[in-house]
Amino acid sequence: MRRGPQTVASRFAERMEQTPYLKHAAKKKAGQAAKRTEGENDMRIIRCRNYEDMGKKAANLIGATVIRKPDCVLGLATGSTPLGIYASLIERYQDKDLDFSAVKSVNLDEYKGLGEDNPQSYRYYMKENFFRHINIRPENTHLPDGLEPDSAKACADYDAVIASMGQVDLQLLGLGHDGHIGFNEPNQYFDKETHCVDLAPMTIEANKRFFASADEVPRQAYTMGIAAILRARCVLLAVSGRDKAKILKEALTGPITPEVPASALQFHPNVVVVADEDALSLF
Ligand code: F6R
Repeated sequence: MRRGPQTVASRFAERMEQTPYLKHAAKKKAGQAAKRTEGENDMRIIRCRNYEDMGKKAANLIGATVIRKPDCVLGLATGSTPLGIYASLIERYQDKDLDFSAVKSVNLDEYKGLGEDNPQSYRYYMKENFFRHINIRPENTHLPDGLEPDSAKACADYDAVIASMGQVDLQLLGLGHDGHIGFNEPNQYFDKETHCVDLAPMTIEANKRFFASADEVPRQAYTMGIAAILRARCVLLAVSGRDKAKILKEALTGPITPEVPASALQFHPNVVVVADEDALSLF
């Protein structure tokens, strides 16, 4: 992917007044950006044939992290996109290629009001689609506590969990149709740390497929903030489908704005995008 001259540095400068918490990181990054050759970008895009291929390639990258660092911290996501990735990782575990016994995980988000017994909760999703099939220790897996009614407490508790894990080695992300990552919805500013979010109508619409009806989709969720996501050593953004093509293009090449939360990834020095042909059809 190529950008026009000076855009990396100038975008940082432009956006910083609106994202004060990122000022420090931005100064550092703007310095790095200035040293880069014009038009160069360190975001890598891996073009995959289809959803299955995307799942395998993303799983290879996660698997490599686990092999290189058996006690790594993985930041994990839910939704449709990672299902193929988790299936591929499970296969590799069953083939004895991967050992998760020392791996720790920290998930992006959880619906407020849903607990682990609720099949629509993300805790349930993670257990059913990944954790119970591999040898990760349940006590090493973390999600926000959806059953904590006090939002301030739930968020502070989760921030403490995130802080206790050390740096996330690889953060897996999906991409929402409105540009959300985690449940960081379009906003006037980049949300920093874990917070309680009102889900956007587009997100409720997209996620109703997992529920009996749109009315049953919880209206709020606890999500890791953008600052926490950006602290990961490496970010792996997985995207599939033509319905994501426009927002993917906007997020990676458009202006950095909290109205497209995923555009914050342009700040990160080590992003790998694993996407299928359909999702990359506008590149
Ligand atoms: C899920 C999450 C969300 C999803 C996004 C895309 O933990 O954080 O940001 O990644 O809504 O969802 P899918 O993959 O279902 O299209």
